[in-house]
Amino acid sequence: MENYLDFSGKKAVVTGGRRGLGKAMVLALAERGASVAVISKSPDAGNLMEEIRKCGGKGFYLSADLAQPEDRKGIIGRAVECLNGIDILVNNAGLQFQETAETCTPEQWKLSQSVLLDAVFDLSRQAIPYLKKQKSGKIVNIASICAFREGGWNFSYGVMKAGVVGMTRCMANSLARYGIQVNAIAPGIIRTDLTASCFEKERYEEICRKYPAGRLGEPEEIAGAMLFLASGMSSFVNGQTLVVDGGFCGN
Ligand SMILES: NC(=O)c1ccc[n+]([C@@H]2O[C@H](COP(=O)([O-])OP(=O)(O)OC[C@H]3O[C@@H](n4cnc5c(N)ncnc54)[C@H](OP(=O)(O)O)[C@@H]3O)[C@@H](O)[C@H]2O)c1
Repeated sequence: MENYLDFSGKKAVVTGGRRGLGKAMVLALAERGASVAVISKSPDAGNLMEEIRKCGGKGFYLSADLAQPEDRKGIIGRAVECLNGIDILVNNAGLQFQETAETCTPEQWKLSQSVLLDAVFDLSRQAIPYLKKQKSGKIVNIASICAFREGGWNFSYGVMKAGVVGMTRCMANSLARYGIQVNAIAPGIIRTDLTASCFEKERYEEICRKYPAGRLGEPEEIAGAMLFLASGMSSFVNGQTLVVDGGFCGN
């Protein structure tokens, strides 16, 4: 039987892979033999390349502000040059504002749209010709449960993540015939810099009461879902959004 968790020889691009969920996904891929190109905003990768090397993988770092069309231009081509190909694209980079439909500023709306939606579209479009040529490829978009159950204070984030869910379905429909699968993950609250305030003791206990699992998630639990969607295990799954939230949305 095929070892689905062997990613030897696979080439993956992960946006926002420098920390948080992205980093957990980068290391999960590298540990299983993939070469990984990380695209993030910071000018340098910190010690991430060293960590990738330690777990036996090969890593490359490309600094780009994905909010900027000029930074996005040709970025997948550059990653392909480093990796000598591309099999997997994980569109993960993200940010979040605390606002409502009434308080969201035009600047917040624009930045949310650029990073959370435009970059996913743009980078996927840049990857498609490579994946189409080899008649295989996996695009995994990181959406959010806010696409379905926005709590009232992450307005533009919820709108854009709902867009990611829609884009995933529509892109999958037209690319399936070329052997390309496009799926998404909708995480619940997971421990990263983005959600640090949710892990402060009192708030944590209050939020956990709404989670049937009785706890919030860890980045590795999203990496597991990504490995499934990026491997042959999910060969007939397309256009789907996998909710990974300890049961919150089903509650
Ligand atoms: N954590 C959660 O509970 C949760 C839940 C649902 C969905 N998500 C989604 O999961 C993804 C990762 O979130 P996270 O929690 O890991 O967040 P995080 O810890 O704040 O990390 C965000 C990553 O995105 C990168 N990034 C942000 N803006 C960028 C830009 N303009 N250009 C390039 N890179 C940019 C950052 O790059 P630098 O490191 O270079 O700054 C960082 O690596 C996001 O799409 C988020 O919406 C997270």
